[in-house]
Formats: sequence, structure tokens, C-alpha cells
Amino acid sequence: MGFFTKLMFGIYLFFVVHGRPDMIEEEILDEILYNYNKLARPGTIEHPTVKVEHGVNLIKIEECDGKTLKAMTWLPIAWTDPRLAWSLDFYDLDALTLPSDLLWTPDIVLYNSPSSHAGNAYNPRVYIFNSGSLSWYPPTTITTNCEGSEIDNTVIFCLMRFGSWSYHGRALDIVLSSDFVDTEDYIEHPEWEYVNSTAYKAVQMYACCPEAYPYVMYNITLRRRDNSQSYNVETNLPHSINGVIESEESKYNVNSDTAVLDKDSNTYQTNNTISGKGSDTDNTDSGGK
Ligand SMILES: *[C@@H]1O[C@H](CO)[C@@H](O)[C@H](O)[C@H]1NC(C)=O
Ligand SMILES: *[C@@H]1O[C@H](CO)[C@@H](O)[C@H](O)[C@H]1NC(C)=O
Ligand SMILES: *[C@@H]1O[C@H](CO)[C@@H](O)[C@H](O)[C@H]1NC(C)=O
Repeated sequence: MGFFTKLMFGIYLFFVVHGRPDMIEEEILDEILYNYNKLARPGTIEHPTVKVEHGVNLIKIEECDGKTLKAMTWLPIAWTDPRLAWSLDFYDLDALTLPSDLLWTPDIVLYNSPSSHAGNAYNPRVYIFNSGSLSWYPPTTITTNCEGSEIDNTVIFCLMRFGSWSYHGRALDIVLSSDFVDTEDYIEHPEWEYVNSTAYKAVQMYACCPEAYPYVMYNITLRRRDNSQSYNVETNLPHSINGVIESEESKYNVNSDTAVLDKDSNTYQTNNTISGKGSDTDNTDSGGK
């Protein structure tokens, strides 16, 4: 046999003995997706209620007119599907990702949106961990309503209410992953300043049905900056002593406490680490109201 023939024979023997190359991810998928029916909610006899953790990462305010807020968000959603667990004793891989349309996913919607749907910009893959827990971060452009503050006319509260559209609370229980909106990746807006936020869980009853429908509500406080145009219009009104004091104080706050202009990115950077926890030294009672 010539060298080439020997080589080909060797390669042939290799595949006869070893089969296809081992692919851990494919073996895991063969196991977890075998007989998987994505229409079935992952409630079990032992844990009949699927618990879904929900959060809001505020990324960017796109438009705000004081009554309606359009914002880019990521909505971290986490739950457990025991069918998708695998053992690390057999497979040396602790996580993988799959397109969400292959799996059961919770039908969480924004209830109070003026537009008909929350508008998922992009449907990303779901992270699956070997324990069967799943994490999903769909980026979503949200349009929602804001109400004005009665104490301070530069402040608005924008509300986002999320819940399952079809499952009642014994089938799907939505829970908060945090008591406020996450602003770690937030890009400041030149006109509206993010002040703080709160989040709470509540339950809605409907006339149709005996079951309770849980939901989570996020309440984001925004303040119109005093360097924005509409504020300048207001300061051109006849100057009362109170008005002058108020605008001086607001300028002081914007410049020294809350925002610095980042020259590289040309965006505002806040140093607001409180995110809705009570340490706010705001000036709602310093203006002349
Ligand atoms: C939103 O928060 C503000 C201030 O914390 C509060 O006055 C307002 O009632 C809240 N709105 C809702 C619907 O929770
Ligand atoms: C943010 O606040 C911390 C603590 O108050 C301070 O040490 C830090 O220098 C501040 N950073 C900026 C960019 O102002
Ligand atoms: C958030 O800020 C608003 C306006 O300054 C204030 O009325 C409210 O009490 C603050 N809420 C929290 C939880 O700090």
C-alpha cells in the first residue's frame, strides 16, 4: 500500500471506531428536547405554579412629552422548566442558548401601554442552565403613560404594569427580581433626568373569573432639566424672588450633584446610585410652592 492509501484507510478506521466527533451541546439537546412539547406550561405536580421573575432595565429615553414615555428597555425574565435540566455528571457543559420559539415562554405583556403591543425589537435566544433555569433578556421599546406630580411641575411619574395575558396566579406567578428599575446601563437624556423608581407587586381580580391575576408595577420618576428649552421659556416669565431662588437651586443641583457631561460620548452620566432607595436628597420642598 502506498502512503496515501494508508492515510485514507487510517482516516476511514478513525471514523468507524469513533463515529462523528463528540458534540456535547448536540447530545444535551437530543436529551432535553426529546418529546418536549412547548405548548405545555412547565408546572409539575410538586410545583404546580410557574414562578416568573421580572425586571426592567432602563436603557434610554427615546421620546417623552411629559404625558407619554417611549423608552428602550431590556426586560430580564427568568423561570424554571424542569424538562430542560441535565446532569453535569454526564455532560461537561453548564449552559447553552436556544431560540425562544423552540421553548415554552411566559406571555408577559405591558398592560397599560397606549400602543397595542410592547414592541419587541429583537427576539434573542434564551439562556438555559443545567439546573433547568432559564434567563431571557428581550430588548423592548415601551410606550407608556406618565402622570404629573402635584408638588413639583418639573416631575413626572411614568408607570409600567406587566403581567401574564392568559395565565392566572396559580398557573403563573409573576414576582419582582428587584424593588426598582435597573439603570446600570442607562444612557442619560438631555431633557429628562432619571430621579428614582419603585416597583411593587399587586393582584387584579376580574368579573369574569374567580382567579386572581398578579402583576408587577414599575413607577419611574423623571424630572425635566432646567437647561431644557421649555424650562427657559418659563424662566422668562416675570421674576419673582421665589422663582429666581428656585432656578438657582436647580442649576446648582444639576451641575454638582446629579449629572456631569461626558465629553467623549457627549451624553450625560449620572452618579445616582440610589435607584429608588430612600436616600434621596431631592429638592421638592425647596421650590416656592
Ligand atoms: C408613583 O410614585 C409617586 C412618588 O413616589 C407617587 O406619588 C405615585 O402615587 C406613584 N404612582 C403609582 C401609581 O404608584
Ligand atoms: C460618585 O459618587 C461617589 C461617592 O459619593 C464618589 O466617590 C465619586 O467620585 C462620584 N463620581 C462622579 C463621577 O462624580
Ligand atoms: C422619588 O423622587 C420623587 C421626586 O423627587 C419623590 O417625590 C419621591 O418621594 C422619591 N421616591 C423615592 C422612593 O425615593
